[in-house]
Amino acid sequence: MNRLLAIEFSRITEAAALAAFAWLGRGDKNAADDAAVKAMRFMLNQMEMDAEVVIGEGEIDQAPMLYIGEKLGTGKGEQIAIAVDPIDGTRMTAMGQSNAISVLAAGGKQTFLRAPDMYMEKLVVGAEMKGMIDLSLPIEQNLRRVAQKLGKSMSQVTVMVLAKPRHDQVIKKIQQLGARVLAIPDGDVAGALLCCLPDGGVDMLYGIGGAPEGVVTAAAVRALGGDMQARLLPRNQVKEDTPENQKIAEDEIRRCTQNGIVVNQILHLEDLAKDDNLAFVATGITNGELLKGIQRKGNLATTETLLIRGKSRTIRRIISTHYLDRKEAEIYDLIGE
Ligand code: FBP
Repeated sequence: MNRLLAIEFSRITEAAALAAFAWLGRGDKNAADDAAVKAMRFMLNQMEMDAEVVIGEGEIDQAPMLYIGEKLGTGKGEQIAIAVDPIDGTRMTAMGQSNAISVLAAGGKQTFLRAPDMYMEKLVVGAEMKGMIDLSLPIEQNLRRVAQKLGKSMSQVTVMVLAKPRHDQVIKKIQQLGARVLAIPDGDVAGALLCCLPDGGVDMLYGIGGAPEGVVTAAAVRALGGDMQARLLPRNQVKEDTPENQKIAEDEIRRCTQNGIVVNQILHLEDLAKDDNLAFVATGITNGELLKGIQRKGNLATTETLLIRGKSRTIRRIISTHYLDRKEAEIYDLIGE
């Protein structure tokens, strides 16, 4: 992907984060998500590219989400595939909690896995452990391999896991093995990046989260030289096995089959992000370990954005100060007081 286009994507998550921030602490996660989606769509449609959302949060009948198959950009220029999560941490945004970010990955037409918005089991490690993980093995064995490769004792290994009831057992197991668990309420994209960035302080991320977040994560992991394995899981295997969830699961399996993917089968990093022709971009909404949140004073707002380009592996941190009253009316309507 052309370098300038990659850099331009930083404006997209900046706009989405600013729009989400207007809903900070207002208890309405749908309104925050809606504002972020509108800001993203408006900005993406101004970019000279022929883009399509290949994995995102939302299906075609769930307007106003950025839906899978949605065409974006001017229609001219490079063909681009987009994997997106306008807000990773909608609840944190709505409740004024830390670690909410806006994220997007862009690549060539065939770069990303095309899958429905469903659950995904993920195992992520940094570059030093590349080739060492195997999701088909129990977590104990993966942890031992990581500890050995890093030359650490188990008590020095740190694992990040989403703090969801479905992970209670695995969290207990990791702790019993002697490793440290950082249990985060939401936001596994930022968690995975901490495994791959120098000084991230995390050795491994494990757990079941969203598939769109998983593909966006894979873009960053690939660009940072880390490793990841994943498995798409039907809803009734993750949530309760009710008739309603079974129906959703049937639909997920049907749609995976259409895309040539088998649920419950291990996907390697190369299946999730197939080449280096990609860019990953994230902007902080609220303060987190990965990115600073938005600092706002009247019509001035400062954002911090992380931009990683696959081909060069350059990691850019972009601090931008925005004069909100100078933004286009469409954006100002979303971010103004
Ligand atoms: P959203 O803010 O987009 O809802 O995502 C938050 C998140 O915690 C993700 O980081 C994670 O992958 C997913 O939700 C887990 O799903 P669930 O909340 O259904 O367990």
